[in-house]
Amino acid sequence: MELTVDRIAVGGKGLGLDSNRRVTFVAGAIPTERVRAQITSERSRFAESEVIEVLEPSLDRVDPSCAHAVGPHRCGGCDWQHVSEQGQRRLRVAMVEDALRRVGKLDTTSLTIRSARSLPASAYRTGVRMLVDGNGRLCYRRRRSNDGFRPESCEVAHPLVDGLIQDALCPGSTEVSLRVGARTGERMLVVDGEPGEVTAPEDVSVVRVGDGPTAHVHEIVSGTRLRISAGAFFQSSPQGAELLVELADRALHGVDRSGVLIDAYAGGGLFSATVGRGWSDSGSVIAVETNSAAVADARVNAPHARIEHARFERWKPVRADAVIADPARAGLAAGGAETIVASAAAVVVLVSCDAAALGRDAGLLTSAGYAVTDVAVVDMFNQTSHVEVVTRFEKIS
Ligand SMILES: C[S@@+](CC[C@H](N)C(=O)[O-])C[C@H]1O[C@@H](n2cnc3c(N)ncnc32)[C@H](O)[C@@H]1O
Repeated sequence: MELTVDRIAVGGKGLGLDSNRRVTFVAGAIPTERVRAQITSERSRFAESEVIEVLEPSLDRVDPSCAHAVGPHRCGGCDWQHVSEQGQRRLRVAMVEDALRRVGKLDTTSLTIRSARSLPASAYRTGVRMLVDGNGRLCYRRRRSNDGFRPESCEVAHPLVDGLIQDALCPGSTEVSLRVGARTGERMLVVDGEPGEVTAPEDVSVVRVGDGPTAHVHEIVSGTRLRISAGAFFQSSPQGAELLVELADRALHGVDRSGVLIDAYAGGGLFSATVGRGWSDSGSVIAVETNSAAVADARVNAPHARIEHARFERWKPVRADAVIADPARAGLAAGGAETIVASAAAVVVLVSCDAAALGRDAGLLTSAGYAVTDVAVVDMFNQTSHVEVVTRFEKIS
């Protein structure tokens, strides 16, 4: 079928109406484009489709720079390789605006939703997860498939990661995670098989999944050296982590730092160790995290903070002056939002990695007496439709 793509949908696909005015999601299409698309699945109220020919291209359309980003069996990783960098920034802002308006029911006409300063579009990812083929070689997953393929090189991977993808052999494993410290040069390979069977360059620590803090690399963010253990979360790049720290710190400008700061969903303590340093002299920092490896890292990375090993939504809240909350993709949901509201914090900085979850969470916080005062969209996952958003809320009632 032929159709015109009107807007970008949360999730990164184009959205238009087919000849019967049925809502149609179009993977690989950019708003304003006229395309020929093939239906991949149908429901009564909407259809999913994929571009097979672009009849009238958007000015934002570019040729993918990665050979693995084209064709029917393309890589499942970078779904926006066909969009220019500026175009990606505009589309992410549009997606976030859409989620805040449609999901969160916020009046976005009075909000400024802006792109934060740009981040590198290549060689940035310091952690990736991969499949292992029958010969022990590391593979990416193909789009909408469980099949793997061996990349010749990956342009979004940091060179230390890309080199390891090429050099490592992991017979006996089915899935592996690669993690490097871009600024320390340390590399780690976490396998689900026998580490003894792995062939990798000498500098690489090879550990079995679940080995936790016994295996780690270090990264340097905003001048702070952080330990990142196997099994603990870390942001996609040190530059991205640094920008989040900068935005969170700026969002807390003017807040009394002799009070209490809660670092919710703290991971290895990225925010406690950086932003929290400014609070620790006269105030206190409380980090709440559920993953044991990350909790152990946070104790090392932010010794000035009180680290609570707990699920945030079940944690007994204390009164606080400010909260930084950086939940996983599922977002805060009702439980997390209630814990924040119970802290009565004057300022909340919400770091979201899913637009729909942000929309819902913003709706929950605004109906509980907070107002959105700033929304910054971060290019944390360049070449993909994934978003990262730092939203500042202020308590108004
Ligand atoms: C997106 S990461 C952010 C980590 C950290 N703020 C950082 O920037 O490195 C989300 C973290 O939330 C943790 N987590 C997931 N569910 C949780 C829950 N219910 N309560 C507390 N922490 C949780 C995960 O283990 C993960 O470390």
